[in-house]
Amino acid sequence: MNQTLLRGRTLTFLRWPDTTEDHAAYRYEEDGGLLLEGGRIAAAGAYAEVAAKAGNGAQCIDHRPHLLLPGFIDAHVHFPQMQVIASYGTELLDWLNKYTFPEETKFSNAQHGRRIARLFLDEMVRQGTTTVSAYCSVHKQSAEAFFAESHERNMLNIAGKVMMDRNAPEQLRDTPESSFDDSKALIEEWHGKGRQLYAVTPRFAITSSPEQLEMAGALMRAFPDLHMQTHLSENHAEIAFTGELYPWARDYTDVYEHYGLLGPRALFGHCIHLSDREADALSQSGSVAVFCPTSNLFLGSGLFDYQRYRRRSKPLRIATATDVGGGTNYSMLRTMDEGYKVIALNGEKLNPFASFWQLTRGNAEALSIADRVGTLDVGTDADIVVLNPSATPAMRLRMETAGTLAEQLFLLQTLGDDRAVVETYVAGKPAKSALPAVVT
Ligand code: GUN
Ligand code: ZN
Repeated sequence: MNQTLLRGRTLTFLRWPDTTEDHAAYRYEEDGGLLLEGGRIAAAGAYAEVAAKAGNGAQCIDHRPHLLLPGFIDAHVHFPQMQVIASYGTELLDWLNKYTFPEETKFSNAQHGRRIARLFLDEMVRQGTTTVSAYCSVHKQSAEAFFAESHERNMLNIAGKVMMDRNAPEQLRDTPESSFDDSKALIEEWHGKGRQLYAVTPRFAITSSPEQLEMAGALMRAFPDLHMQTHLSENHAEIAFTGELYPWARDYTDVYEHYGLLGPRALFGHCIHLSDREADALSQSGSVAVFCPTSNLFLGSGLFDYQRYRRRSKPLRIATATDVGGGTNYSMLRTMDEGYKVIALNGEKLNPFASFWQLTRGNAEALSIADRVGTLDVGTDADIVVLNPSATPAMRLRMETAGTLAEQLFLLQTLGDDRAVVETYVAGKPAKSALPAVVT
């Protein structure tokens, strides 16, 4: 069996780090080693001990003095929006109608979907992101393109065909029946194939009829181990329109609740303006609120109250995400930098260990995949990011005065981007250095 032995400063989390002094929350090896075999981590710890377990033929890659962390996880992103990102001047509903829906119509063309899926996963690898939960377009072929590309790269990704049957251009509308049939066919073909996972993906209550949300609930009952992803409580106009479309509902969350869409694998993008009742309902069902800081700022949607949600007596499970193309950057480092500022505007702080916990183990726990990815634990998949906190002249200069690990992580979050990602390993294989140099 081929073995790869990585050497560098290894960092992995055991649980939420309460403060920068909470050293029991993580494991850090100044001279660490990771032995990779068969796509998994076969040994981890001090380099000398790990090296002693490696066979004679092991390929050694010395990444010192860089940091080795579990690959980043992006819990909510729209792969068909690569040519929507950086569209000027609108809030959510206008932004969807003016930029996003027209762009997504192009994905009726399978060849276009394949090209963008390839470039999207290239970009993820470039940014050190090894797992995403992705929205495809309404077209079945867009999800086929995404899964085929992801499977070929042996990446662990979650994705789903968007279900949407109203309040959108005709070319982007399916029907309750066709969305059920297409989703079911995709589930049967892709869910559990290699590392691929399927998420039932009704876009949001505005673009789904009651009959379609019924179908989404039926899919979740038929395939209970699937994820479900949608949008919730992002923007005031969206909330008001949802109230008009579902007049019987107590609130926005109640719409999804009514159709059986809450639960431990349910991922709700945004969740900015929740009432206490809604937050209680999400908490009690184990549902996940996905924090999308760059998108929430860019579309002027509002400030997600991360610390309040976390500390309430019925706490929310929280994930973080780019939400590209509403989001403005593919980098999870840039995303957490903006997240830190949003949390600061709510009068709180997020310590650097907590940030990196969130990007790795925290997001893996929120997606219920922490037994497979998100740590450097032995037996888990070898998805790893190699980070250089001195990647640019300005970072190198700041590193002269950044003594502690916490300071170096905060510097990486504040100044870092894809230039700080030296290598990305996907299932034990170097993937970033294998990328083509030019976009085609
Ligand atoms: N709500 C429904 N669809 C979308 C989308 O594509 N992006 C964002 N940010 N919100 C949405
Ligand atoms: Zn979104």
